[in-house]
Amino acid sequence: VRIALIGDSHGFVPALEAALAAARSSAPDLLVFCGDLVTVPFSPDPPGETIELLRAEDVRAIYGNHDIALRAWGTPEWDQVMAMRMERGYQPGPWVSLMPEGQARVAPEDLAWLRALPGELAFDDGRVYVCHAIPGNPFLSLDGSDRRESVDPAVREAALRLPKPAAAELILCGHSHLPQAFCRRSPLEHGQTVVRTGAAIGWGQPPGSAVRQGGYAIVTRRGGDWEIDFRLTPWRPRDPAWTWRRSLEATGFVFPRSP
Ligand SMILES: [Fe+2]
Ligand SMILES: [Fe+2]
Repeated sequence: VRIALIGDSHGFVPALEAALAAARSSAPDLLVFCGDLVTVPFSPDPPGETIELLRAEDVRAIYGNHDIALRAWGTPEWDQVMAMRMERGYQPGPWVSLMPEGQARVAPEDLAWLRALPGELAFDDGRVYVCHAIPGNPFLSLDGSDRRESVDPAVREAALRLPKPAAAELILCGHSHLPQAFCRRSPLEHGQTVVRTGAAIGWGQPPGSAVRQGGYAIVTRRGGDWEIDFRLTPWRPRDPAWTWRRSLEATGFVFPRSP
């Protein structure tokens, strides 16, 4: 089995296109997108273009924290999303007030597609499990590497004891944008390989750069082992000057001064 793992394209269509093309050239049996297809509340490129790419027949996608926030605004799911987000231990920024405007940029049929996305996948008779961050909460990184997330390690371990992740021998995820792989013992006492793919937008990219390197992973089972190949592919943002902050300010939004 060969799996291509892509995630965290965050609304940059050229980054997703580059990762998909590079991953497909390895002829994977499965192409998995592990979430954060948009950035909330506003994406650099139209969300509909990202969604069209991910609707390809050979892609299996789940939602990330950004995607579930965008789809949940104005629905009963929103309270649950905020409760998961609050497990990080600090309040979300005032940009939350722009969520209705962000969601209005998504066409109704694309929003329906987003709302049908699952939060996890299991395949290969349960040997492979996919989530965005930790099982059951797309806001918390699996290895605790994100310093802004002050979550108790016991919370992560409890998530990994849920039946599907506990049974898996391979756990695939994204969310923290650096690629990483490590081995652990499952609560059911078998070995587990955890692979976090490098973000399709890359990491540590100098702001404003016209050419960037995006990450993805090819994971192949050989004998009883999983071979992991972290790869990079170049991509060019349509607007190299786009920043999240600038996209908010373009709406007239004023960031509150820090106290
Ligand atoms: Fe992300
Ligand atoms: Fe994320």
